[in-house]
Amino acid sequence: MKLLQAKLAKYDAPQKAKALGVYPYFRKIESDQDTEVLINGKKVLMFGSNSYLGLTNHPKIKEAAIAAIKKYGTGCAGSRFLNGTLDIHVELENRLARFVGKEEAIIYSTGFQVNLGVVSCLTGREDYIIWDELDHASIIEGRRLSFSTPLKYKHNDMASLEKVLKSCPEDKVKLIVTDGVFSMEGDVANLPEIVALAKKYNAAVMVDEAHGIGVFGKQGRGTCDHFGVTGDVDLIMGTFSKSFASLGGFIATDSITANYLRHNSRSYIFSASITPASTAAVGAALDIMESEPERIAHLWEVTNYALEGFRNLGCEIGHTSTPIIPLFIRDNEKTFRVTRDLFDEGVFVNPVVSPAVAPSDTLIRFSLMATHTKEQVDFALDKIEKCFKRLGILK
Ligand SMILES: Cc1ncc(COP(=O)(O)O)c(C=O)c1O
Repeated sequence: MKLLQAKLAKYDAPQKAKALGVYPYFRKIESDQDTEVLINGKKVLMFGSNSYLGLTNHPKIKEAAIAAIKKYGTGCAGSRFLNGTLDIHVELENRLARFVGKEEAIIYSTGFQVNLGVVSCLTGREDYIIWDELDHASIIEGRRLSFSTPLKYKHNDMASLEKVLKSCPEDKVKLIVTDGVFSMEGDVANLPEIVALAKKYNAAVMVDEAHGIGVFGKQGRGTCDHFGVTGDVDLIMGTFSKSFASLGGFIATDSITANYLRHNSRSYIFSASITPASTAAVGAALDIMESEPERIAHLWEVTNYALEGFRNLGCEIGHTSTPIIPLFIRDNEKTFRVTRDLFDEGVFVNPVVSPAVAPSDTLIRFSLMATHTKEQVDFALDKIEKCFKRLGILK
């Protein structure tokens, strides 16, 4: 065995989970993707999706994607920078900029690439990136690639953020980066205080709205809109892989910053542009977000119903108030086992285990879509109560 493979062979956590019959990853969905999916020929209720508005099967979105393939083909075969810009890319950018309330928007091929390419390139050697310890992995990768000094603050802790800001030289550039809604624990960033501190210490702010758009704010414009701080936030990031039922992502900002990013952001320049189908799907999803507010209203109705249900069961759900509901298990093995047991009972949920979180913070991530019914939530609550009690997670 070569040295490389000898080293990698030591990583055997997946094999161990498979041997125990609790390996929860890469489960193959054989059907369309809504609240009920087919896996291994078995129907299960999907409570692990990020498709908050439940739009992945919407006929108008599918039609738009098909029409775009017919007109433009299946790929763009190049970067936006060179041969890969289509008129529909630019139209969508203009629309997204208006939607979130910024001068310009730039579309990347994934949300991950947005954070990677934006966070890594805006600040320089003498500057500071200030980040929440629970920020998404893509933000962390971006700051790892940056030459700036990274400074971490405690999760959503404004005293900790202020301490960090105070420690930076007044005349240096400071960029605070936070998730709007935190992806695993579902809590919402304290944006009003973050922008107040940013003003006090002359820092710029970037908010990742991956889980905020489609859920918060007028017509789903996100947490910045919800808190009325859009004008005080310098960069708003969004992804198309969640409420928009597509693939890709964008950054919305002022013209000066957009100009800099277009010519310096490496994951934008050195990667092929988002496909015609994905682009058109986002435009159609935006139409629906703007014209069917009842979807967001229903998402909140089932979310509040589920939150109350979990509280009544006595589950530990942390500080969430959103469609992302963490069910803390605080034990790696039990988290795997209960994920498997729930699947056997017909409920698909996602395990979040170490090393993604500390072993004492493991959880089941339960998430809602606008297409869920209260009956489906009741079914899940019933199964969760049964499985949690069996493993002693609930008394
Ligand atoms: C908070 C957050 N930011 C960024 C991303 C990356 O988005 P994408 O799936 O479009 O790459 C995700 C997706 O998991 C996310 O949860």
